Amino acid sequence: MVFYYRQGEVPKKRHTVFMKQDKLLREEVFGLNGFSGRFSLLYHLNPPTRIAKLGEWKNNVLEEWKDAGYRHHKLSTSKLRKSNDPFLDRIALIFNNDVILSYVKIDEGETKLFYRNADFDEVYYVHEGEITFKSVFGEMELSQGDYLVIPRGTTYKFDFKKSSELFIIEGKQIEIPKSYRNDYGQLIEGSFYYNRDIKLPVLKTFDEKGEYTLVIKTIQGYQSLTLDSNPFDVIGWDGYLYPFALSVYDLEPITGKLHQPPTVYTTFTANNFVICTFVPRLFDYHPQSIPISYYHDNVDADEIIFYSSGQFMSRRGISKGDITIHRGGHVHGPQPGAVESSLNKRSTYNDEVAIMVETQKRVKLTSYAKEVDDPSYPLSWYT
Ligand SMILES: [Fe+2]
Repeated sequence: MVFYYRQGEVPKKRHTVFMKQDKLLREEVFGLNGFSGRFSLLYHLNPPTRIAKLGEWKNNVLEEWKDAGYRHHKLSTSKLRKSNDPFLDRIALIFNNDVILSYVKIDEGETKLFYRNADFDEVYYVHEGEITFKSVFGEMELSQGDYLVIPRGTTYKFDFKKSSELFIIEGKQIEIPKSYRNDYGQLIEGSFYYNRDIKLPVLKTFDEKGEYTLVIKTIQGYQSLTLDSNPFDVIGWDGYLYPFALSVYDLEPITGKLHQPPTVYTTFTANNFVICTFVPRLFDYHPQSIPISYYHDNVDADEIIFYSSGQFMSRRGISKGDITIHRGGHVHGPQPGAVESSLNKRSTYNDEVAIMVETQKRVKLTSYAKEVDDPSYPLSWYT
């Protein structure tokens, strides 16, 4: 996050003695890019370094679907199995060196494990469900339509209040677009959302001893370890680096006289990809405008869209929960009849929500993607 935020108690000066009931609190500097990036200062009841037991290392190299060819794809998440864990058992479908896109369907209940992604920031998009997100920074309630953005290195867990489905994006430097921020970090007029729309964690402190299993994820796999106190033992923190949430229903789509490019829906930028959100909106107001998109080929990009709800004007045969991959170098756009039927429409369907991840480098598909791929999709513009 790019705004200064403070929760709980912090000492008057950083790096000074800070006592709580005769106990010396333990300060942690949690930061990115060495000591020159964003950071927060956290004050723990216990040293955050006390590993009582090292658990197992588990390799997790993604298995590529090697003979996928080079074509458009449609993946049906409705055909995916349930996951046992949102972190260890998420189903990776699409990836390259910059980004991993995964899906999770999970039953109600609280996760026993604590999680920390060492290599990638994470965005969890709540497709369905009600979830309490718990973290070293505090807790947040999430529901359908929420993006949860977690900086890499954050310790967290989940309590699923009902069975939930999550579309997960992992990458580096997942941030609020710089073009939306003034020199002071305030979101400027004309941005897709405003500071007020950002939901922040509320600190909750646990002073508990016991066995707490933390799983640290890297690009290569998972390291499990046991701590002897609850890692959510922070009594205060401040800084610029912490998880936050944003509901797609609070976004403010920019509409125009003629068709606007996806760029206006940019929600987060990241290292070599962007995340955009298509939300309900009025269509263009030129009397002869064609409201839906033109045929296009962004040669230098692969375009992945997760369809969360609604009926998409330009697409037939797309169901809620489907993911399309449109390859650079192939043309795509409205399917037959879609332009004609859009001409007199004044708005999208009022529950239309889709998440787009546009990557600057080619993505690969995993063997899981192969299982839920519709091989006839590239021909869906033919009839
Ligand atoms: Fe497109």
